[in-house]
Amino acid sequence: MLIDLKRVEKSYVTGSVEFKALKGIDFQARKGEYVAIVGPSGSGKSTLMNIIGCLDVPTAGEYLLEGNPVNTMTSNQLADIRNRRVGFVFQAFNLLPYATAFENVEVPLLFARVNGRDRRRRVTEVLSRVGLADKLNNKPTEMSGGEMQRTAIARALANEPDIILADEPTGNLDSKSGGEIVKIFDELRELGKTIIIITHDVNIAKRTERIVKLKDGLVDTNGNML
Ligand SMILES: Nc1ncnc2c1ncn2[C@@H]1O[C@H](COP(=O)(O)OP(=O)(O)O)[C@@H](O)[C@H]1O
Ligand SMILES: [Mg+2]
Repeated sequence: MLIDLKRVEKSYVTGSVEFKALKGIDFQARKGEYVAIVGPSGSGKSTLMNIIGCLDVPTAGEYLLEGNPVNTMTSNQLADIRNRRVGFVFQAFNLLPYATAFENVEVPLLFARVNGRDRRRRVTEVLSRVGLADKLNNKPTEMSGGEMQRTAIARALANEPDIILADEPTGNLDSKSGGEIVKIFDELRELGKTIIIITHDVNIAKRTERIVKLKDGLVDTNGNML
């Protein structure tokens, strides 16, 4: 199993108040699976995604990544997983505002210490893959929302991760731009990537193999999925 969470809990402490955002989640994903996570606002979707992507660690329970317990990994090992194995895509794109598309996509390659010639080749290749070969020098202010999200996807793909995590990637887009993003995820799936996508977008959810619904920090096994 690629991703295997067992009874994962996550508590946040704010002042003297403890809040349990995840209350014992069992979640698995096989290599190459395309999974949607749905659920009302505040149900713990982003918290779960952050844990799957090793941006955060559980406060209880266990997370095995390819059989390796994440809670025994050093911060360097976790940083390496975030940089090389996982590509993140967020609702608000999270691009550097003063950098060009090229420079934004180059960032994870700089962290991975890829040399200049390989960086140029990889950045051009992934931006072409998302249809932005002619926008290399555009800054976010010179792009549409859909182009910004495609740049963010190119950035997520730069280090050729095998796991793609997306948190409401079409949430800020009109339906046409959203549709282009949906197509790119379909292509990534064809390439054998494991894709886990938080979404309210029925058009995405219905293309996935499996829908996991969260409710109040738990997997909801009852009722209508969408
Ligand atoms: N850093 C944090 N500190 C305190 N509470 C948090 C933090 N992040 C999220 N929460 C709380 O945890 C719950 C789940 O949040 P989140 O995972 O973002 O839900 P969703 O993505 O499903 O909307 C919410 O009630 C939220 O207020
Ligand atoms: Mg969220």
